[in-house]
Amino acid sequence: MRLALPKGRNLEPALAAFRAAGLGLRGVHANSRHLRQTLEEDDLEVLMLKDWDLPLYVEHGIADFGVVGSDVLGETDGDLLIPARFREGGCRLSLIGPSDAPPAAGSQIRLATKYPNLAKRFVATRPWGAEIFKLSGSVELGPLLELSEMAIDIVQTGQTLRDNGLVEIEVVEQVNACLVVNRASYQRHRRRINDLVRELERKELVL
Ligand code: PRP
Repeated sequence: MRLALPKGRNLEPALAAFRAAGLGLRGVHANSRHLRQTLEEDDLEVLMLKDWDLPLYVEHGIADFGVVGSDVLGETDGDLLIPARFREGGCRLSLIGPSDAPPAAGSQIRLATKYPNLAKRFVATRPWGAEIFKLSGSVELGPLLELSEMAIDIVQTGQTLRDNGLVEIEVVEQVNACLVVNRASYQRHRRRINDLVRELERKELVL
């Protein structure tokens, strides 16, 4: 089977959980430049992918299963099975800005984000409106440089906000790394995937 691992913030918690559940994943680490590794001990091939590309590889069956953040899943519309959410390494997607005052009811703000679809759904539940600007990273610069009044972005330790004089106004949603499985692969490898999920559950590594 092929396992797709994310290169970003979810890699370490995913490796720790899989190892605790019995996989060795020897030689797989954040600083490795190997994009594809065969692990005979685990009877697996591991692919290292960018978070945003990972759902596509799993949906198309290039990888049988993988790990990706619920933030990315909420923004893309892949048809994947999601049998578990990892407990460790969670963060949140929040509305952020220069002050903790939310937008006034009836107002129209400019909002910067990497997550335009999630942002659109969130704004639809609020009594104010927004023009959404899609950025690819360093989203905090939107409100800092007045491209926008506010932003919706990942907050984990809160360090980036503190270092840039911004604050969290409201949590939009909790974000966790998710185990994702290709539908056909699940049919072919049901026993192995179920065993892995059961072990992750037994060790309380997933929610
Ligand atoms: C995310 C997010 C924040 C930072 C938050 O960035 O966009 O910048 O992490 O983490 P903290 O609360 O622990 O400081 P990411 O590393 O995904 O990079 P990018 O947005 O610049 O692509």
